[in-house]
Amino acid sequence: MKKLIVGNWKMNGSLDANTALVAALLQDTQAWACDVAVCAPAPYLAQLHTSLTGSRLDLGAQDLSVHESGAYTGEVSAAMLKEFGVRYCIVGHSERRQYHQESDTTVALKAQRALAAGITPIVCVGETLAQREAGQTEEVVKRQLAAVVHANGHCISEIVLAYEPVWAIGTGKTASPEEAQHVHHVLRAQLQAASQHADRVRILYGGSMNAGNAQALLAQADIDGGLIGGAALQAAAFLSIVAAAH
Ligand code: 13P
Repeated sequence: MKKLIVGNWKMNGSLDANTALVAALLQDTQAWACDVAVCAPAPYLAQLHTSLTGSRLDLGAQDLSVHESGAYTGEVSAAMLKEFGVRYCIVGHSERRQYHQESDTTVALKAQRALAAGITPIVCVGETLAQREAGQTEEVVKRQLAAVVHANGHCISEIVLAYEPVWAIGTGKTASPEEAQHVHHVLRAQLQAASQHADRVRILYGGSMNAGNAQALLAQADIDGGLIGGAALQAAAFLSIVAAAH
């Protein structure tokens, strides 16, 4: 399966910084053996739509509304994202679950909205440190994925899944390749029970992935790519992760 490397810029960037980063990223796309995307803050999607059209770098958003349209001040709909060439949309990132109280049901509905608009949701699951230490990792990620499976039925094979242990995000601590593989294997089995096309779902690892640890993580059987935060803001670091994905 072709790997997928996604940069999640989170709430970073500016018109000038984006121009410089994209120019550096697009320098040698012919060398890429994997699919690559960047998920940008909503105000910059128009800028990136223009600069990425026709390139090998795909565009993603970081969130979308659970509603289709209407009186929902501040929200951005799937249809609006689609108009700006958005191919992927992160849903259920732990920062949204934590700071915006997004429930499993909300995340599942957002995935449904994305799929209905022809956008591939990148559904994030992952346990906190307390949950890992209490031995609840499998139970937590299975519950989070179950809600998405329940709401999306056989379309589940159209999603991208990302395992992001919350304790590894922005902390410099990564799950070891074996720890990550174990969880990815559990998630794969759950997808297989839900869809006969589960093997085509790419399961990304996210959480302090960098140029130094990417190769070992990406060598695992069920790790099909990465969701990169901090290292996605520097072209050289991001490109070395891309180079490790083949
Ligand atoms: P870091 O790579 O900065 O740990 O962030 C990971 C992440 O949350 C990507 O969505």
